[in-house]
Amino acid sequence: MARKVIIAGNWKMNKNAAEGKALIEDLKAACGKCCCCEADVVVCPPFTTIGAVVEAVKGTAIKVGAQNIHWADNGAFTGEISGDMLKNAGVEYVIIGHSERRQYFGETDATVNARLKAALKYDLIPIVCVGELLDERESGKTEEVLTRQIKGGFADISAEDMAKTIVAYEPVWAIGTGKTATPDIAQAAHKHIRKEIAALFGEEVAEKVRIQYGGSMKASNARELVAQKDIDGGLIGGAALKAADFLDLIKEALGK
Ligand code: 13P
Repeated sequence: MARKVIIAGNWKMNKNAAEGKALIEDLKAACGKCCCCEADVVVCPPFTTIGAVVEAVKGTAIKVGAQNIHWADNGAFTGEISGDMLKNAGVEYVIIGHSERRQYFGETDATVNARLKAALKYDLIPIVCVGELLDERESGKTEEVLTRQIKGGFADISAEDMAKTIVAYEPVWAIGTGKTATPDIAQAAHKHIRKEIAALFGEEVAEKVRIQYGGSMKASNARELVAQKDIDGGLIGGAALKAADFLDLIKEALGK
């Protein structure tokens, strides 16, 4: 079964509203002259940039995602943002459990699971990140770590909801380092993730779930990575911050 390629730009803490709008205008200027619409294309700006970007993408196929969601509907959670607020702002996707959240902000598999449930409740498409640290890879624990993150992160999720969820495999040692996992290394991890999803939710669901690769993905390596059987797209950091880089990457990922 063919899974549609999905490329999402995680802008992280970059681009104020004016800069975000300018990037979308640059992407739009190239639209119609490229093949980017053959993929699902998502941009995930910081919260205060979301409004300007939602406005700017109107009339295009580009979708907007957020970088986090709180599990509560509202209340005394200073600094957090709810599913209702994101939905009202025009957001359709949300990144959950990025390794930077796990590393710097105390995110755990349990909080990932709670945020995932909130995203599903508000009909947002979750992009759940998993991935091992360098020392975990070097000590042969990659599969064990991925299994733990999947079992914990996707606990008590229905098969129907799982089928809507996107998983991003982001080996932490490859993020922002210029070190990309080789296509073979990435494929092996993606295959393991799909196997674990199949064990929890059945083969049919596992075949539907799209698994993105993230970690120094760029135009020069996107084609070979996305050509792998279990790699269905990318979650892009640095190469999503300039329109030309992002569009080149999308074309390569589509094999054009
Ligand atoms: P880079 O593409 O900058 O390595 O970042 C990847 C990432 O963390 C996307 O979420």
